[in-house]
Amino acid sequence: MTPMTPAKAVAHSNIALCKYWGKRGDPALNLPAVGSLSLTLEGLWTETEVGPGDRDAFELAGTGEGEAHKVFAHLDRIWAASGRTGARPRCRVRSVNHLPTAAGLASSASGFAALTLAAATAFEWSPPRTTLSALARMGSGSAARSLWGGFVRLDRGNRPDGSDCVARPLFPADFWDVRLVVVQTTAAKKPIGSTAGMERSRATSPYWLPWVETSEGDLAEAEAALAARDLAALGPIVERSCFKMHACMLASDPAILYWNGATVDVMRRCWQLRAEGLAGYVTIDAGPHVKVLCAAASAAEIAERLGAVPGVVAVTVCGPGPDAHVEVLA
Ligand code: DP6
Repeated sequence: MTPMTPAKAVAHSNIALCKYWGKRGDPALNLPAVGSLSLTLEGLWTETEVGPGDRDAFELAGTGEGEAHKVFAHLDRIWAASGRTGARPRCRVRSVNHLPTAAGLASSASGFAALTLAAATAFEWSPPRTTLSALARMGSGSAARSLWGGFVRLDRGNRPDGSDCVARPLFPADFWDVRLVVVQTTAAKKPIGSTAGMERSRATSPYWLPWVETSEGDLAEAEAALAARDLAALGPIVERSCFKMHACMLASDPAILYWNGATVDVMRRCWQLRAEGLAGYVTIDAGPHVKVLCAAASAAEIAERLGAVPGVVAVTVCGPGPDAHVEVLA
């Protein structure tokens, strides 16, 4: 039997401050059409254990969804990349999502990042972290960013083989004392998953090209504002990137709308608080929840005020989170 060592890895979720929406080139490589910039989050994580089994098996505990066939296909990908010969050993994969509720915060970023690191370790392969990140991206684009803590950038790249589409840490978690206030609104069933939604936007949205063409400029400006730890400069770019993405989604045919009424009410309330001097900046992903970027000192008050908006079901305050890491098995 091909040797493998049981291994466990932990990866934290991340939220994009400059969004990824849409793909380019070979679908098997899952290359983004735009670069993105994210904040890895403390308090939201996935732990995944990969060990030998009689057959491939996948168990998921905690919140979120996991698709076994995607997990096994990802193991095949990592085995092939590791250069190990022979058939991939059968694996037992156990994953636990530590996400606040079942209300639909994405688990694919932390999930594929943890799976990639755990499987490579189990296959006794330790390539550079950028290689692991590129593999995680093939599972889910946003997962490429969850290999690192703090602030992370994923470049779009231009090459068809994806060799210049790499993620890299910009600043570690302790670089800047900011918070993301995650405001959960009642989750309806998602109208469309992000992979299919992206394809629909690319194929039908008249705003697709402007979205792609303006994103590089947003990224450069966001990176400069981040380097200067300038929230008043970064915040408007975060909102601009978010609303351009949602405009592109909305103008798809048929339209893609992830928001509900409370999503809009929370956004408006956040803007009102900002006008009153309590600065927070909104971002929204492929779901109805609102995430608000703010200084650590404002987070508790913003959380309290936004938590009072009707339709809000939970509020979680997250600081910058750590690198994905291997954990010693008990
Ligand atoms: C709106 O990474 O879930 O959250 O690569 O198709 O798995 P796939 O998509 P995924 O998309 C995330 C989209 C987003 C924005 C972002 O995280 O950048």
